[in-house]
Amino acid sequence: MVVGAPEVESLMKKVLVTGAAGFIGYHLSERLLEEGNKVTGIDNLNSYYDVRLKKARLGRLIKRRRFRFHKADLADIKKTRVIFKAEAPDLVVHLAAQAGVRYSLENPRAYLKSNITGFLNVLEACRQFKIRRLIYASSSSVYGANTRLPFSVQDRTDAPLSLYGATKKSNELMAHAYGHLFKLQTTGLRFFTVYGPWGRPDMAYFLFTRNLLTGKPIQVFNRGNMRRDFTYIDDIVDGMISVTRLSKARPFYNLGSSKPVKLMDCIRLLEKYTRQKAKIRYAPMHPGDILETSADIRAARDDFGFFPKTNMKEGVKKFVDWYKGYYRVKTV
Ligand SMILES: NC(=O)c1ccc[n+]([C@@H]2O[C@H](COP(=O)([O-])OP(=O)(O)OC[C@H]3O[C@@H](n4cnc5c(N)ncnc54)[C@H](O)[C@@H]3O)[C@@H](O)[C@H]2O)c1
Repeated sequence: MVVGAPEVESLMKKVLVTGAAGFIGYHLSERLLEEGNKVTGIDNLNSYYDVRLKKARLGRLIKRRRFRFHKADLADIKKTRVIFKAEAPDLVVHLAAQAGVRYSLENPRAYLKSNITGFLNVLEACRQFKIRRLIYASSSSVYGANTRLPFSVQDRTDAPLSLYGATKKSNELMAHAYGHLFKLQTTGLRFFTVYGPWGRPDMAYFLFTRNLLTGKPIQVFNRGNMRRDFTYIDDIVDGMISVTRLSKARPFYNLGSSKPVKLMDCIRLLEKYTRQKAKIRYAPMHPGDILETSADIRAARDDFGFFPKTNMKEGVKKFVDWYKGYYRVKTV
């Protein structure tokens, strides 16, 4: 008798992952495929950051037998419907979004297009094609001006500090309404500063690494007086996979390491693993930024044993190793 085989069978799913060429979408897709699921990816491959990196992630997924890809913009309802109809997924994991807090001050409309219209279109397609389950990316940014630490899913989230945070909060409200009206089970995952190999070039740890390795100065806001709950990508993917397996999930979970790190300590680790000394240029606090983020992960721990394993030292080393390999940085 093959113990466990039927259970593995029953766990196999057809999963639609939006934002599959993005940082988190790529890693999640890899893991879902490794675990025997079929994955359909959607991404519009927009140029918010280097499209070559998105294509490189995608290139690795496309080699996999059970992966299919549609280049499409979720703000286009017709295309979105066609894909949902053709793919008929068991589960949708919606990660496509215009990310970034600071960029939402420069290009607010990109956030409305992807995060509001795109999100509505995903909800509508779920409704039309009777999808039962939607897991989507929210963000620690919904906590905004909340000063009570660590941030708990019980805390109020009605004072976002950026349009990005406001769109993520809106997603949670929209998901709730659709869940209530159309029997769609939705779970919002509030991610806390996710980092790691194949990461996002607009994020501070990535920009710092690039500048350290090219001898350029790094810009540090608020004299570095900030703390972030940095969360390593593999821990985030572990948490997401657990959520896909829950028969009954809560409407939200915080996914963070729950061990906030001082920004300057992160810079010291990057210096150590790049073997470079940072040339720091201080800048005032950015009005859209939050001073400190810290995740209360008790709900995730209780419901699916969420236990982030990767400490900052290991995570930063793995990121720098990947960065040097990917960008062919010559080391001395
Ligand atoms: N990385 C983090 O630290 C973090 C923290 C909190 C929340 N999040 C959220 O997690 C999700 C994934 O983030 P990420 O870090 O992988 O970002 P990412 O930018 O690397 O990935 C998002 C992907 O979505 C695609 N996309 C954007 N708008 C689209 C549209 N209208 N139609 C189709 N594709 C579209 C982009 O091309 C990109 O490849 C996002 O919703 C983000 O807001 C990320």
